[in-house]
Amino acid sequence: MAINPFKPTAGKLPPILIGRQAIIDDFRHGLLNGAGAPERLMLLTGQRGYGKTVMLTELGKVALQQGWELVSETATAGMCERMIETLTAGSPRVTGADLGPSIGIGNIASLSLGHVDFSIEQQALTLRSAINERLKKLPPGRGICFSIDEAQAASLEDMTMLATTVQHVIRDQDLTNASDKDQKGIALVFAALPSLMDDLLNDKVLTFLRRAVQRKLGPVPIVEVKNAFITSITHSGKQIDTTLALHAAQETFGYPYMVQLVGYYMWQAAESRRSQQIEETDFKEGLRDAVLAFEDAVCAPAFKGLTLAQQSFVMAMLPDQPHASKVADIAERVHKSQSWVSKYRASLIDARVIESAGYGHVRFAVPYLVEYLIKQDKHEC
Ligand SMILES: Nc1ncnc2c1ncn2[C@@H]1O[C@H](COP(=O)(O)OP(=O)(O)O)[C@@H](O)[C@H]1O
Ligand SMILES: [Mg+2]
Repeated sequence: MAINPFKPTAGKLPPILIGRQAIIDDFRHGLLNGAGAPERLMLLTGQRGYGKTVMLTELGKVALQQGWELVSETATAGMCERMIETLTAGSPRVTGADLGPSIGIGNIASLSLGHVDFSIEQQALTLRSAINERLKKLPPGRGICFSIDEAQAASLEDMTMLATTVQHVIRDQDLTNASDKDQKGIALVFAALPSLMDDLLNDKVLTFLRRAVQRKLGPVPIVEVKNAFITSITHSGKQIDTTLALHAAQETFGYPYMVQLVGYYMWQAAESRRSQQIEETDFKEGLRDAVLAFEDAVCAPAFKGLTLAQQSFVMAMLPDQPHASKVADIAERVHKSQSWVSKYRASLIDARVIESAGYGHVRFAVPYLVEYLIKQDKHEC
């Protein structure tokens, strides 16, 4: 029996990864181009459901194909400590004390790790020596790739440690006098919500991240969504005609998670009729289910994550739908000053909930958010 090819599940690789080949190629070239290639430090940003986690998996696969080691982490408390554990697993634990006495430990900023207090500097030294020890075991030109998901949630201490460590490891390699081609490398790929760069970061971390090659994961091209629908559906033993596939693709707005939802539910609708042909009715039924799931997984958290002021701003945009809203009208509707609306307009654009729609106008930037808000509004009345 054929199974549903679509995968509307967070972090699950889709049947066809749409529209991301250029990023994959850039990263591969970064690994191939030897020490100092900028793509070895990459920052992927995008809202929930744009495919950050699956891109980390894809880039991790590239690293493994090139003979690199892979350390995958999610930025929760104790990340660097876990990295050290992973790197030293199976080999005697490396500590900062193993390094020469010339390397001082500097100011002690205390950081609590379980029951023991380590200084940030001390832990950075331990991480650095754990990486260096591991690199020694690898063939020339290879290295370790760290993939770090949810980097917006990383502690400032962990990010500072990483920034410090990476620079030191790169310098340590230069000190070996090996050619850039033969030096052992380190690659870091971060995935984060767009708010990462807006949050309070210290200078060291900011400088480090600004140097990263940043790739913003946005909507994928509709034509490619259509082609992916046709290919995935055909491979699974069902059929869809081109016009319907295009129509279905348009309703996803190129939002990767929505692509999987629409594909999954229209396939399922045809399956429950025991049909091999996906018809217009399957698409309509599938879209209804897809929108409900999308509202739960994307629209609800996007709205609930806003402050009350931001929420009142977006609710005041509803009377203008489906057109753009004039910022001056919003000020009037919420009885607030021009400076109040300017402030919240900017914060909502940063959060990628709304976008500019020409001078003095804004519109929603998340598909189906309007429909969701209208439903919420009705519930409240
Ligand atoms: N480029 C893509 N093409 C098709 N589907 C994708 C793509 N990227 C992600 N997806 C799908 O979108 C959903 C969300 O992906 P995920 O990586 O969890 O997003 P994020 O980490 O940004 O929240 C998953 O169901 C995944 O299969
Ligand atoms: Mg994710």
